[in-house]
Order: sequence, then structure tokens, then C-alpha cells
Amino acid sequence: MTPLLVAKDIVAGYQPDLPILHGVSMEVTKGEVVTIIGPNGAGKSTLAKAIAGLVHVTSGDVWVDGTIATNVAAHQMAGAGVGFVPQTANVFTTLTIEENLVVGGAALAKPAANRQIERVFGLYPILADRRGDKAGVLSGGQRQILAIGRALLTEPKLLLLDEPTAGLSPKAAAEMFATIREIATDGSGVLMVEQNAKAALRMSDRGYVLAEGENRIDGPSSSLLDNKEIGAIFLGARPDDLLPVNQRNDP
Ligand SMILES: Nc1ncnc2c1ncn2[C@@H]1O[C@H](COP(=O)(O)OP(=O)(O)OP(=O)(O)O)[C@@H](O)[C@H]1O
Ligand SMILES: [Mg+2]
Repeated sequence: MTPLLVAKDIVAGYQPDLPILHGVSMEVTKGEVVTIIGPNGAGKSTLAKAIAGLVHVTSGDVWVDGTIATNVAAHQMAGAGVGFVPQTANVFTTLTIEENLVVGGAALAKPAANRQIERVFGLYPILADRRGDKAGVLSGGQRQILAIGRALLTEPKLLLLDEPTAGLSPKAAAEMFATIREIATDGSGVLMVEQNAKAALRMSDRGYVLAEGENRIDGPSSSLLDNKEIGAIFLGARPDDLLPVNQRNDP
């Protein structure tokens, strides 16, 4: 089966002579949830942005469902089958939920956009119930659902999520992970960056550990959860130790 995403030997950064990623590779297949973890500054967000066409790839390639998509401009990535939800500023707080979806569907023809918005309302009744409310009054978890709902308007094959549970309570994070799992069950592939390493790996199929812009460890999530080297990569701390106390998974 052709993987949904192949990122191969990606070298990328923000300035031409200063690569942040030094040849990173990863794959996602249909129906999979794949988690990227790694210390702060490892290059996780840079990789997500490079795949999404927001950071220039200087060498290496990105394929989406067998089609080359290296350096396809971000606004054309939806057409290439990729939805991207950045960590911050992912909804317009002064617009209503419905207006956020209309803006998100702007690239679609009007009838298709309307159909997709109703489909997303069907998937996430909380958005339908509050369609006239400003996004700024939503809880963090609801806002994240809106951001994901907006990315789903174009029916992406691959959904890229940068820290979808950042700032959420453990309960809201668990609900978000359940939502993400459903998206994969419905046939998309999900690649997500997570700080909430243990909880994310527990609901993922596979994971990659990045550090200093390089692949360090990858494998089935269960093997990563048991891997003692990962603590050392996080500078002696277990990944969860990096979280505020109220967001840790284990007592
Ligand atoms: N817009 C930018 N311009 C220049 N350098 C940047 C920019 N964004 C990130 N960097 C640098 O790239 C490196 C990797 O950052 P990145 O945001 O990809 O890390 P990360 O693994 O997502 O970290 P975190 O866990 O803190 O989100 C860091 O050294 C960072 O300072
Ligand atoms: Mg980041």
C-alpha cells in the first residue's frame, strides 16, 4: 500500500544556510495515528510546517499519497490532500464558529463549502449547537475542535496537528485524542506533534522521537513507551516531567 505521507531526508530551516532539520524521514499510512515527540527546539513544528508548505525544504522530498508535494505552497496543500492545524492562532476569535468554517472553506465552490460545513457540524454537534457564538468564547478544547473541523472541510487524506492538546485539561485532552482516533478510523492518516508524550503514544499506532533536527528513535508506540533511552533524549527527564503538574498523566 502506498503510504499517505512519505517525508524523506528532509533538510529545512528558516534561513538558507541554517538548517534546523538535518535529513528527517517519516511515513504515515492510511488509518494510522503517528506521534512525533522530542525536546523543545527539536524541530517538531518545523517538520510539520515543512510538510505543510510553510517552511522551505532545501533537500529531500515530501510525497502525499504517491504524489510529490515538496514545497507545494501552503494554500495549495489542501488540494494536495493535506490539512494542517498549527498550535496557536488556529481560529479567528472575533468571528463566529460558522464564519470560521466559511473562511476555512473559501477555496471550495459555494455549494461544496456549504455541504462540507454541514458535514463538519454533523461530525461535531458542539460546533453546530454554538454556530453563532464567537470562537473567542469557546473553551480551549472546543476551539481545537473548531480548528480541526475547519481543516476537515477539504476532506484531507493527511491531517497534521501541532500540539492538539496543548493547554487542555487531562479530560479535554482525552476527548481530543478520542476525536483524533476517530478521524483516523474514518480513513485519514494523522501525524501529530505532542508534548503530552505518554498519553499521545498510548493512543497512537507509531511514534518518532526527534532531537536536534534528527530522527532518533521510532517504532510502534508500545515500544516507545517501554524505551528507556527516550528519557535520556529528554535530558534526563521523562517526557511527562516536562509538563506542568496538572497536565501529567501519572501520579
Ligand atoms: N520562525 C522561526 N525563525 C527562525 N528560527 C525558528 C523559527 N521557528 C523556530 N525556529 C528555531 O528552530 C528550532 C526548532 O524549533 P521548532 O519550533 O521546530 O521546535 P519544536 O520541536 O517544535 O519545539 P517546541 O517543543 O518548543 O514546540 C529552534 O531552534 C527554534 O529556535
Ligand atoms: Mg513546536
